[in-house]
Amino acid sequence: MAEEIASIDQVQTLLDGQNYVCGRALATVAFLALRLGRPLFLEGEAGTGKTEIAKAIAAALGRRLIRLQCYEGLDASSAVYEWNFAEQMIAIRTAEAMGFDGAGADREALKDELFSQHYLIERPLLQALRPHVEGPPVLLIDEIDRTDEPFEAFLLEALSDYQVTIPELGTVQAAHPPIVILTSNRTREVHDALKRRCLYHWVDYPDFEREIEILHARAPEAAETLSREIVAFVQKLRTEDLFKKPGVAETIDWAKCLLALDVIDLSPQVIADTIGALLKYQDDIQKIEGSEAKRLLDEIRAELAPA
Ligand SMILES: Nc1ncnc2c1ncn2[C@@H]1O[C@H](COP(=O)(O)OP(=O)(O)OP(=O)(O)O)[C@@H](O)[C@H]1O
Ligand SMILES: [Mg+2]
Repeated sequence: MAEEIASIDQVQTLLDGQNYVCGRALATVAFLALRLGRPLFLEGEAGTGKTEIAKAIAAALGRRLIRLQCYEGLDASSAVYEWNFAEQMIAIRTAEAMGFDGAGADREALKDELFSQHYLIERPLLQALRPHVEGPPVLLIDEIDRTDEPFEAFLLEALSDYQVTIPELGTVQAAHPPIVILTSNRTREVHDALKRRCLYHWVDYPDFEREIEILHARAPEAAETLSREIVAFVQKLRTEDLFKKPGVAETIDWAKCLLALDVIDLSPQVIADTIGALLKYQDDIQKIEGSEAKRLLDEIRAELAPA
């Protein structure tokens, strides 16, 4: 386990070192997850740094990051292990060519051979239970809300004792459990039983000052005035009635677009030309283009102006 982590401040410093800006509440829950060896469940809007924190923790601790990307229809076999069917077929053909007749002791020996480690393809969950020289890996179970309830139930079991059973080979148990981080966009509610195993944190959009800090960390080339305008504008956009609000990822993307265009300060024209970095739905874009962009810009200019 990550015994070397002694305090919440240390978590913040480690994440700072990875250019990850972490508020006190998130740092606290991350510290507790590391300290108590509990999975960390992060739920929140898109592009708010849920996936990124797993990468940052792995990098900061020098651990391997193992990612299980969830999707509809993901089943235990693609998450844990599969048998290398093609290799097994080749082995059978080769045995046949060498005179194997499918009977008696030969048959048992071949079966043992075919279901041995050599023919096993390890998928993320199994990989995460194996020993790693750098120490227990970070297992990122990303976008768990995209899977279904049977998979959740399976996961709950795997995470409760950090072991999985392969019928032909036996049980694999982690000597040192991985650091587990689960994320969800809340497209559906994840079952209480799974949540109860975890420490939970809702990752919200950052406030103005924190988003400025993130922008400094991720797009340091942006001048202070432009950064403030960018963040104020994005934050204002989030208060509008949009189908898909821009996340922090979009703020950073937009800043990089503006820098690439040598923009010094925002104007309705510049906003119209680059709005695709912030909004990804035509209805949202139509709503904001033109006079609405100018109105929002005037509002943020007034708010940013020194009193
Ligand atoms: N607190 C933060 N500190 C530094 N960078 C951040 C932070 N939050 C978000 N980012 C930036 O935003 C990008 C998107 O973050 P990330 O992919 O982690 O979002 P997410 O919450 O996983 O979104 P989704 O739900 O769409 O998967 C990251 O690559 C990173 O550059
Ligand atoms: Mg993500």
